[in-house]
Amino acid sequence: MRQELEVLLSGLVKDLFDYEGDVVVSRTAEEHGDFASNIALQLSGKIGKNPREIAEAVSLRLNEHEMIESAQVAGPGFINITLPKTAYFQKLYRLTNEQKERFGRSQLGSGLTVVCEFPSPNMAKPFSVGHMRPALQGWAIYQLMLRMGYNVITDNHLGDSGTPFGKWVVGFLRNSSEEKLALDGIAELARVYIQISSDLKAEKEAGGHEMADEVQKWLKKLESSDSEALGYSNRFNQISLDHMHQVMNRLGISTEYELGESVFVERGQQLVDELLDKGVATNSEGAVIVSLEDERIDTPLMLRKANGAALYATTDLATVEYRQNTWNPVKTFVHTGQEQAFYFRQLNAVVKKAGYSAQVTHLWHGLIDQKNEDGTREKMSSRKGVVLMNDLIDYAEQKAKEFVSDIASEDTHAVALAAIKFNDFASDRKNGVLFDWETMFSVHGFSGPAVQYAAVRIRSILAKSEVANPKPHPDYDWASEKPLLLSVLEYPELLRELHDSYEMHKLAAYLYDLAKELNRYYEAVQVLQSELRERDSRLWLLSVVKYVLQDGLEILGIPTPEKM
Ligand code: ARG
Repeated sequence: MRQELEVLLSGLVKDLFDYEGDVVVSRTAEEHGDFASNIALQLSGKIGKNPREIAEAVSLRLNEHEMIESAQVAGPGFINITLPKTAYFQKLYRLTNEQKERFGRSQLGSGLTVVCEFPSPNMAKPFSVGHMRPALQGWAIYQLMLRMGYNVITDNHLGDSGTPFGKWVVGFLRNSSEEKLALDGIAELARVYIQISSDLKAEKEAGGHEMADEVQKWLKKLESSDSEALGYSNRFNQISLDHMHQVMNRLGISTEYELGESVFVERGQQLVDELLDKGVATNSEGAVIVSLEDERIDTPLMLRKANGAALYATTDLATVEYRQNTWNPVKTFVHTGQEQAFYFRQLNAVVKKAGYSAQVTHLWHGLIDQKNEDGTREKMSSRKGVVLMNDLIDYAEQKAKEFVSDIASEDTHAVALAAIKFNDFASDRKNGVLFDWETMFSVHGFSGPAVQYAAVRIRSILAKSEVANPKPHPDYDWASEKPLLLSVLEYPELLRELHDSYEMHKLAAYLYDLAKELNRYYEAVQVLQSELRERDSRLWLLSVVKYVLQDGLEILGIPTPEKM
């Protein structure tokens, strides 16, 4: 509705004042009408007219329009707009009939492909909260793009090449054994990795290089496909992959492809040679770099180390090429922390210079903080240095059990996921997220479980009513439903907006507001106790609200429990 009004107003001001620009319409407090626009104030400076005069002229025209019930000028030049009472119902009824279970979806991306890359963890380490944000944010963009009609390729770009492998083998040979590995799998590999990392650091500080040389030796062996090295690599990778899949499974996410860095090392190296031939890349003290000054970036991007080794950028460049040639995406979404923002600017500049069109849309996010018992805030960590994803989910499930007793374990899991995931969308992804368990599980607060509860409550009302397929009554006046109808109608418009802004936190905020609107509605009306005409109309609207709540949560990767 809002967008339709914006279009209507744009047409009017173009007609009246020959003005072409953005016209914004927003919801307004109920006593003022349904929507308001400050276009007159905005225009007044530009065309040198009194804002009230402009507002009067626009209102006059609005009042003549069949879509509008009344338009009124208020204050210095605001225009308050009211639509006929049943307009919202009619629109929603038409939309839900036309679109059935596709309310909110669009065909914007029809015939086009996008690549969604997530969670792309690094293999040598157990899945920690460090890769939770790309997992959750990546999944949400994927779900959104599906609803916008795109063909979506999901790809987990594993961090499975480079030094970590060498460190793993050396650490394993020095500090572990087959028995320990058989017993503890990923936990043993993690321990080995942490130990060797600190040993190497100590060695370097002491001026030694024996262990570091060993690491390089194993890396060389792997590059030349030495069978012993390959044996270790395959086995460690498998343990790591199994673990990663187990965690992703618990989080309820998966990808169609899993083309890690190691797949792209060889082609990456060839590409570097090609770019050298073309003069796009240059030699610099043995290394290969691309200067980016003409792209107004001071720091060149290195594509090959002086010792000939491939780098993150080497494999990324080959990945871009592969994706372009294989899927020809209109967009490629990659999620990482803020610290890689500059790198992706560099990479995109090189992509452009190398003649590819497939730029990376880098959606970066802030860090994860935790709230301590004394109320202070700090970067999330455990005594071991990192918080493991499995531990975090375990903890959330335990909390969920305290929050709702007596429900199926599947439902406890759903509530735990809601607490964790909704929190990731609680504010702009560019800000950090704060783990404050109390808020995350609060039924009345801004939380995932609160939104789930709203959906579950509708489900139980619908079940109690025993009306299988409630239909709205033709004579119902929809007098009490206006705010709820307006909120529901915002859903398709919001998804359309997220398609361009990627600001998924707005979806979380919207769902929470919708749940609150619902609570106000229950306070104002009786649903089950009302007479037939009202009851069926209200049940119908509730079933649409339930659909929106569930669908919105599903975009954020949050299942709705049966009971809670
Ligand atoms: N594995 C990387 C990391 O953990 C993220 C990969 C992002 N994707 C990419 N194509 N570079 O930092």
